[in-house]
Amino acid sequence: MVIASWEDARRLARRRLPKIFFDYIDGAAFSEQTARANVDDYDHWLLNQRVLAGHAQRDSSTAYLGKTRPLPFMLGPVGFSGLFAPQGEIQAARAAHAAGIPFCLSNFGITSLEDLRKATDGPIWFQLYVMRDRSLSELFMARAEAAGVEALCVTVDTSVGGVRDRDIRNGFRSASRLTPRIALGLLARPMWCLRIAAGGPLRIGNLRDQPQYGRRVLEQASKLTGELDPSTNWEDMKRIRQRWKGRLVIKGILAAEDALRCAELGADAIVVSNHGGRQLDCSPSTVSVLPEIVAAVGERLDVLIDGGVRRGSHVVKALALGARGVLLGRAYAYALGAAGEKGVTQLIEAIATEIDVCIGHMGLARADELYRRRSEVLRRHAAPGP
Ligand SMILES: Cc1cc2nc3c(=O)[nH]c(=O)nc-3n(C[C@H](O)[C@H](O)[C@H](O)COP(=O)(O)O)c2cc1C
Repeated sequence: MVIASWEDARRLARRRLPKIFFDYIDGAAFSEQTARANVDDYDHWLLNQRVLAGHAQRDSSTAYLGKTRPLPFMLGPVGFSGLFAPQGEIQAARAAHAAGIPFCLSNFGITSLEDLRKATDGPIWFQLYVMRDRSLSELFMARAEAAGVEALCVTVDTSVGGVRDRDIRNGFRSASRLTPRIALGLLARPMWCLRIAAGGPLRIGNLRDQPQYGRRVLEQASKLTGELDPSTNWEDMKRIRQRWKGRLVIKGILAAEDALRCAELGADAIVVSNHGGRQLDCSPSTVSVLPEIVAAVGERLDVLIDGGVRRGSHVVKALALGARGVLLGRAYAYALGAAGEKGVTQLIEAIATEIDVCIGHMGLARADELYRRRSEVLRRHAAPGP
């Protein structure tokens, strides 16, 4: 089946993945309101159509972290992607790199930094969580350095845990071993079992030399989740800034005041993110706070955004509201679960085509004109009538 859009990918992923993993991707905190708002709030903006602009060739490239990227979106960190497809992180990274865009490996990735680096030579970012055991964070940073990552992306919105009803029901990350119930759920998707079993035992790759966190993925996941440090504060971020000599991205910013603190401590970029609505339900959607954050720090660092980005039109709106680049989350996770590298490639192509078609219909030659010309190209959706 061809993946023409994220909806195709989601449908197929639901059929192919065990429920525990589909729900892990698809679910969010509490009533999942913020996750829905992330997508729906893009509808508050419309794109102005202009005709006869005569741009036979259009350019979707944008620049962030000092480099021009052929497309304005990249693949953000998604934990446990190796559960959605065998060597899932490698498959997704290869699809990203074939399109010339960065891939960010999650701290909770199944593939290790070293194996990912061996498998593909495109731009890799490494996403770090601050752990109670600071020596573990230090070890991850040293390995990220050795792997030559383009940026360290520190996620700061998880020091307080997210409560996701679906994960609680399914026992994901609370069960530290395969219970009969989880095993039955996995066996309901025999093709998934065969595909994943062929890759050998599942582990969090970057913990392979840390036996105290266990040897199997469920045990490691539950122990590592317990290691996220609830006392993480701005002093920790300052220390990381001093320690990390390369590009530093801080992910999980929703308030202009916090964005300013990131700029003050010398971050190179922030990701306006609410973790896809997976942490604090009822927090604002990312697109709704983007303009005020861009107004506060847009001249001082690169403002990136994620959350609810499913279509090329969402990317175009985010750029017109001042984002320098966009990270995909669920959209590519569904595609990976649906059809591995091929699925991610098709999804990237679909979104790239949509961006090109949007800017073409808007009478623009270049995606990087969107923000400068925002007053011409964007309009607010009129409030619904009585
Ligand atoms: C299944 C899943 C796992 C995730 N794992 C991580 C992670 O390990 N680290 C991280 O910083 N963000 C993680 N995120 C959050 C994403 O990076 C991103 O912020 C979010 O998915 C964006 O929202 P969207 O899915 O609506 O596009 C995860 C998201 C999903 C859906």
